[in-house]
Amino acid sequence: MIPFLTPEILRNPYPIYEMMRASQPVMYIEPMRFWSVFRFDHVRTVLSDSARFSSAGGRPPASQGTPAPGQRDGFSLITTDPPRHTQLRSLVNQAFTPKAVAALEPRIAELAHELLDRVSGTGKIDLIQDFAYPLPVIVIAELLGIPSGDRDRFKHWSDEVVASADTLIGGSASGSLQAHREMNEYFSGIIAERRKAPKDDLISALIAAEEGDFHLSEGDILSFCALLLVAGNETTTNLIGNAVLTLLEHPEELAKLRSRPELLPSAIEEVLRFRSPVQAMFRTANEDVELGGQVIPAGSRVVAFIGSANRDEEKFPDAARFDIERTPNGHIAFGHGIHFCLGAPLARLEARIALAAVLDRLPELARVNDEPLTPARGFIVHGVSSMPLRFRPQE
Ligand code: HEM
Repeated sequence: MIPFLTPEILRNPYPIYEMMRASQPVMYIEPMRFWSVFRFDHVRTVLSDSARFSSAGGRPPASQGTPAPGQRDGFSLITTDPPRHTQLRSLVNQAFTPKAVAALEPRIAELAHELLDRVSGTGKIDLIQDFAYPLPVIVIAELLGIPSGDRDRFKHWSDEVVASADTLIGGSASGSLQAHREMNEYFSGIIAERRKAPKDDLISALIAAEEGDFHLSEGDILSFCALLLVAGNETTTNLIGNAVLTLLEHPEELAKLRSRPELLPSAIEEVLRFRSPVQAMFRTANEDVELGGQVIPAGSRVVAFIGSANRDEEKFPDAARFDIERTPNGHIAFGHGIHFCLGAPLARLEARIALAAVLDRLPELARVNDEPLTPARGFIVHGVSSMPLRFRPQE
């Protein structure tokens, strides 16, 4: 058995991935009862071949319905197959446009600087708790149009929804049904208000989105809000955290980035490849599928190890080297195919602004000690839960 959940492996799963790519790139893992896929080409196939690999647990399209308001199972976009996925995605796309995301830039920068203002005189920061964690939560709350006074409640629900999402992806159950219920009631109230008086926010845009006679139902909008909390928060937190940690571990690359800030976008792509915030995604085989000389039987759960694919030597020369100038860099950290991450432009924008602010505002940034950092919960989301750092205090 592969002990995926020990802290050592959660911190550094790469030696195991390397071994698996070489020896058993497609393997049934008995105790966890799923097939694991480790090589780049295979992972890309599993993620993008939605005819053979279902995101809906192999359920027929007719049962991939929308949860009723208040119902707990609400991750419809990411857990549906075509044709329902196609319909939902095109409606959601109308609201989640690159233009809407780009318009957030000044506000994200303002928020990033506000968070750093609180610590800049002290010379100490927990990069995760003080910065990389709150930033994406506040951004999503503002994008959705949550009044700022409600933000603490929103953050509590967000934590609970993220925790319970672990059960969907193999982790332990700790989320609270109560929080889901409260959150759905809260969003139902906001949806009702926006129906009467639309504002310039994502919820109003989701209500207005239409294709032919088709609109998003209230259940669709509620489940999309829950999905944004899960898919958009911890992932972005870990992208920012992994970027800072990896740069601190590679001082020559950090120095290069400081002297050539135009490399920032390419450095972020390399962090996405080198320490992918989402290490794995699940599918279910719709039929018997032959992959890498193995037959994955119909109905099997399949885990596509994105984190391993992004370190595959067959695809990336010198894959274990962190190189902020790597070109081309065809990583699949945001997935591939019809489920490609809807929030990728937002995640990239937030990471760029966050990293620029950290480099600018926290000089001589360094680890407080060499103690191993506590890994984030579960093996899907990859990062650390706390990162105490010191820097030269600012006036
Ligand atoms: C889908 C990664 C940030 C919203 C995905 C998928 C991956 C991913 C791998 C594909 C899932 C699959 O194939 O089953 C990431 C990473 C992020 C990030 C690494 C940050 C670094 C965000 C943000 C948002 C978001 C900020 C929104 C605010 C979504 C949504 C989907 C998705 C809605 C489902 C798309 C669909 O099923 O059609 N993400 N994500 N993500 N992501 Fe992200």
